[in-house]
Amino acid sequence: MLTRTALEALARRPAAFLASGWPWRSLAYLLSSTVPGLVVAVTALSISLVGRVPLMVPAGIAAAGLAVPPLARFERWRLRLVDSTPTPRASAGRRRDAAVALFSLFVFWWIDLLVVGATVGGPVVLILSPVLQPTDGAWALAAAFTASAMGLLLLLVAPYTFTAWAGARGALVRTLLAPRETELAEVLRSRARLVDAFETERRRIERDLHDGTQQRLVALSMRLGLARLDLPPDSPLAEQLAQAHEEAKLALVELRELVRGVHPQVLTDRGLAAAVRNVAARSPVPVDVDLSLPRRPPQSVEVAAYYVVSEALANVAKHSRASRAAVRGRLAGGVLTMEIRDDGVGGADPARGTGLTGLADRVAVVDGRLSLSSPAGGPTTMRVEIPCAL
Ligand SMILES: Nc1ncnc2c1ncn2[C@@H]1O[C@H](COP(=O)(O)OP(=O)(O)O)[C@@H](O)[C@H]1O
Ligand SMILES: [Mg+2]
Repeated sequence: MLTRTALEALARRPAAFLASGWPWRSLAYLLSSTVPGLVVAVTALSISLVGRVPLMVPAGIAAAGLAVPPLARFERWRLRLVDSTPTPRASAGRRRDAAVALFSLFVFWWIDLLVVGATVGGPVVLILSPVLQPTDGAWALAAAFTASAMGLLLLLVAPYTFTAWAGARGALVRTLLAPRETELAEVLRSRARLVDAFETERRRIERDLHDGTQQRLVALSMRLGLARLDLPPDSPLAEQLAQAHEEAKLALVELRELVRGVHPQVLTDRGLAAAVRNVAARSPVPVDVDLSLPRRPPQSVEVAAYYVVSEALANVAKHSRASRAAVRGRLAGGVLTMEIRDDGVGGADPARGTGLTGLADRVAVVDGRLSLSSPAGGPTTMRVEIPCAL
């Protein structure tokens, strides 16, 4: 699995963890806390120069206010050292920015530097003790070397300590900047009545295409085939007729595809489970399918659920950059539930396309609910629940 945060890196095998960049990134993350530390020190020094206590308080508040926006930006920027999932957008809100900046100014920076000092500085001092405390006498020398050995051991485990703190701190900063919404939120539905009308129209078009146009094309194709048999093969017309015949056959194939797109044949013939396996098998991203549908739901429910799965998997392929996806379907207690998950980048937003809102409309027609959870950094989960009468 891909390691995306310092905390995830801790769970790797020790050799892999120590050889990776994560301890160094964590160390850099914590050391960059000298910046807010310096801000506090310089501000405190300048304010103390003001000298008069009644003026110090407003000066302090003004300084903190001035420091908030650049500090929030700095925290956002350096978060990527310990968390490579996309950083929440800057529009997350001013209150959140202020919270992060104030934490950084008053809480985090000295803890960060203390952690680095204790986990790296301490062992280094211990290691250097034979040099720092030159002694004579065998016992004192032995003690100094024992301390040195202890220091070496402590330095070996230090990456775990400071990476753990850096990771936890990063997670806290991320939560302050933008909480990860893992709750599924219902996708807005808007045009339910319109879709109902569209559905009726769709059925009519499908029927007309199937019974009318398609039959005519079949007849045309057969006639052209027969005409070709009647012509001597070397006549100048034969070539043209052969072309016309090919064109007619192509048109028939295209029309069949079209009809299938409007309403896949396998869905009518063999039901939702087969149709879902069919789309899953055609997906470029590998999909685990887990379905338990003891009976076939009503046709309108099957169609709506099918469209949800096929749009969700199309989105996985188009937008998610996922390495795996999964479809889970259950029919129990008179409710059909389908859940489509992917381990991709997340950030799905119904407002940025037409697919998801269209689905919500479709699902609303059969009294279902469509919900979506897709925090920045993933994972994305889409769920549809449709009641079907027993
Ligand atoms: N599984 C997903 N992973 C990441 N982003 C997604 C996913 N599904 C949708 N999105 C994002 O949400 C937007 C809206 O999706 P959708 O309504 O289906 O529109 P589109 O027509 O672009 O597919 C997409 O443009 C895409 O940026
Ligand atoms: Mg889409």
